[in-house]
Amino acid sequence: MDKLVIEGGHRLEGEVSVSGAKNAALPLLAASLLAEGTSTFYNVPVLDDVLIMGKLLRHLGCEVEGRRRLRVEAPQRGRETPSAPYELVKTMRASVLVLGPLVARYGRARVSLPGGCAIGARPIDQHLEGLRAMGAEVTLDHGYVDVRAPRLRGAHIVLDIPTVTGCENLMMAATLAEGRTVIENAAREPEIEELASALCAMGARIRGAGTPIIEVEGVSRLEGIEHTIVADRVEAGTFLVAGALTGGDVLVRGAVLGHLDAVVAKLRGAGAEVTPEAEGLRVRARGGFSPVDITTQPYPGFPTDMQAQFMVLAAAARGQSMIKEAIFENRFMHVPELLRMGADIQIDGRVAAVRGGRPLSAAQVMATDLRASACLVLAGLIADGTTEIRRVYHLDRGYEGIEDKLRRAGGRVRRERE
Ligand code: EPZ
Repeated sequence: MDKLVIEGGHRLEGEVSVSGAKNAALPLLAASLLAEGTSTFYNVPVLDDVLIMGKLLRHLGCEVEGRRRLRVEAPQRGRETPSAPYELVKTMRASVLVLGPLVARYGRARVSLPGGCAIGARPIDQHLEGLRAMGAEVTLDHGYVDVRAPRLRGAHIVLDIPTVTGCENLMMAATLAEGRTVIENAAREPEIEELASALCAMGARIRGAGTPIIEVEGVSRLEGIEHTIVADRVEAGTFLVAGALTGGDVLVRGAVLGHLDAVVAKLRGAGAEVTPEAEGLRVRARGGFSPVDITTQPYPGFPTDMQAQFMVLAAAARGQSMIKEAIFENRFMHVPELLRMGADIQIDGRVAAVRGGRPLSAAQVMATDLRASACLVLAGLIADGTTEIRRVYHLDRGYEGIEDKLRRAGGRVRRERE
């Protein structure tokens, strides 16, 4: 297993470039199951999660080749598709995204239930309720969910929660259903809009993606497309925080302001300067941050995927910050590691009170989940001394070559084999 070794106290200067968005790539790759012929995706991030999705699609009978430029050809309709096995799904929960496309195009899907993960139970009841509403027969047996429908029919679905992958699954399923589907209380993340535009390019008829009401008119077939994946807004946000924390001056190349309004507003509130430029967003800070109060919300609210990163900013700020994690029930796994680095954080249920201002001290720490790992990298960049982060395979799921990107901007970060 690899570890990252970070020498704190170095300003970041210059630029970092953002890779394609993991949470856009995963549903887009699943969507290629819906189309006849080949789909080609560009600017695909080379990440473990994306490689697992490629492996899963191969297992389901697709031709999959390439990495950053990734081509997928799904099997012909009429073939019985194998199930999505536990050993793949347990390593990557977003595998559930093949559910909707499989039952819509092949009439049947058998996917291992993902089970919980570090940050929470993360059930998929909304996905399954929606598919039932569309006429699918959904049964659970031996840890698998089995979904069958000779042909899905359009339905009026009201989600209890604006679930991102739930919305993506149901939107994809609806593209080949008989008639019209309305999804109310839909998630509004940019990845939903990007998926909808790719599905429309395949021949789907979708309106309202990015708003709380999405309407889909089912069609009989979809065709493969070429699509370039948008920059990863969470990776971009992470680098903006890194630039601010180190009192640096960094151009985050590829960052899209419109996808980061809530994050940029909080960065500015803390005292960092964020300015849009032609190539992305520039962040500058001279240190001395004000506290930030944050409650994570569905998009366009403050993203839960940036909560752990902002806890480091709160620890560096003078005063007390309140951080509420309102989306997942257990997304404070980074706190015990930050405490070991000298942070002063009190957790009460879903709220963390962070008393900032004391410098963090370098330590040997352990990554527990993807965004907690990113938080530890940020803490290492400003801690006094050399921090070692173990189990960086968590980081590799969502950040492509983060040590190279940070080193090119002046960070003292290297990867070592344990
Ligand atoms: C997506 O996960 C993202 N993953 C997550 O990013 C992100 O944190 C999350 O959305 C919230 O923005 C991908 O897009 C691949 P949800 P998802 O369904 O779709 C509950 C990262 O770090 N819920 O919107 O699984 C659920 O338990 C990852 O890149 C139900 O109760 O999240 C959670 O509390 C982590 N029933 C809340 O809704 C359901 O059927 C939001 O979950 C579905 C969800």
